[in-house]
Amino acid sequence: MRAIVCREFGAPLTLEEQPDPRPGAGQLLVEVAAAGLNYVDALFVRGEYQIKPPLPFVPGSEIAGAVAAVGEDVGEFEPGGRVLAMTGMGGFAEKVLVTAAAAVRVPAGLTDGQAGAFVQSYSTALFALRERGRLRAGESLLVLGAAGGVGRAAIDVGKALGARVIAAASTDEKLAACRALGADECIRYGDEDLKTRTRELSNGGVDVVFDPVGDAFAEPALRATGVGGRHLVIGFAGGSIPKIPLNQVLLRNRSVVGVDWGAWMLRNGAPQRALLEELLGWASEGRLHPSEPARYSLEDAQRAVDDLLHRRINGKAALFP
Ligand SMILES: NC(=O)c1ccc[n+]([C@@H]2O[C@H](COP(=O)([O-])OP(=O)(O)OC[C@H]3O[C@@H](n4cnc5c(N)ncnc54)[C@H](OP(=O)(O)O)[C@@H]3O)[C@@H](O)[C@H]2O)c1
Repeated sequence: MRAIVCREFGAPLTLEEQPDPRPGAGQLLVEVAAAGLNYVDALFVRGEYQIKPPLPFVPGSEIAGAVAAVGEDVGEFEPGGRVLAMTGMGGFAEKVLVTAAAAVRVPAGLTDGQAGAFVQSYSTALFALRERGRLRAGESLLVLGAAGGVGRAAIDVGKALGARVIAAASTDEKLAACRALGADECIRYGDEDLKTRTRELSNGGVDVVFDPVGDAFAEPALRATGVGGRHLVIGFAGGSIPKIPLNQVLLRNRSVVGVDWGAWMLRNGAPQRALLEELLGWASEGRLHPSEPARYSLEDAQRAVDDLLHRRINGKAALFP
């Protein structure tokens, strides 16, 4: 099989021939139809994530595809069935091993692309908004980086939870996609004053901020929260980790809430599975609208990573081996 290999952090990714993996006990061999590209994958291959995998490695943290073979003790899945799963590593390949405990059947209505780019973004969005942010129906939600992977999922999940959603992104084209997904209001945050505009659009202050960008946008977003506002710290795609004046947390009884879905998911297999099944149920019912990701071939893996890091992707991207 062919696989994308990272041989040196920051060096161009290479496409290589590798032996087909064989499923052991409790494992599935999946023929990858689509492998979602996430910001974390880009950090991994640049050696900028807090965990550095031993070199060389095959990146790719989530996939969807057809079961090609099953190992011993796997009763639930049969060859030919469509599954999606977190892989952690190894997804940017024609075939990948997945533990049966991590695999979930793909509902009939989801395309391979939607399924292969679903787990991380949508799980993060629901875990952040409902479990950590206590977002309630009728509340207002500001989403930064709203046209990115977790950003779009936060719009979609926020609307499904009954919130009024304000999307903030860098270009009119990205904001048009956010509006099409259901955002009620839009802010072009490079050009408009984020704090002032958010307050204007939310009757004085939003209830919840979903912030995967950080950098220069975190403080104005926190200052735009109202009484009892919750600022969810998701990530720092903007580059720098901001320092926040604590008086801004004291004022209006605000909270700054950390969200580490990855760490939670690793320690909470059953609750994560329930969260994912719930999200897939909502998608089947038409309550969620996962976007079709931008398509890249395996040969184009490096270009996909570059496009992501240079903010050229509107929505999510996936490799289609
Ligand atoms: N805490 C968690 O559990 C968790 C889970 C998943 C992801 N994350 C984090 O969330 C962040 C976003 O992940 P993602 O997969 O959604 O990434 P993504 O699809 O690339 O989206 C990131 C968005 O950030 C914005 N951005 C602003 N400045 C940027 C810059 N200098 N470089 C790149 N993007 C920039 C871009 O939108 P504009 O061009 O519109 O500004 C882009 O759409 C990452 O930091 C990731 O590590 C955290």
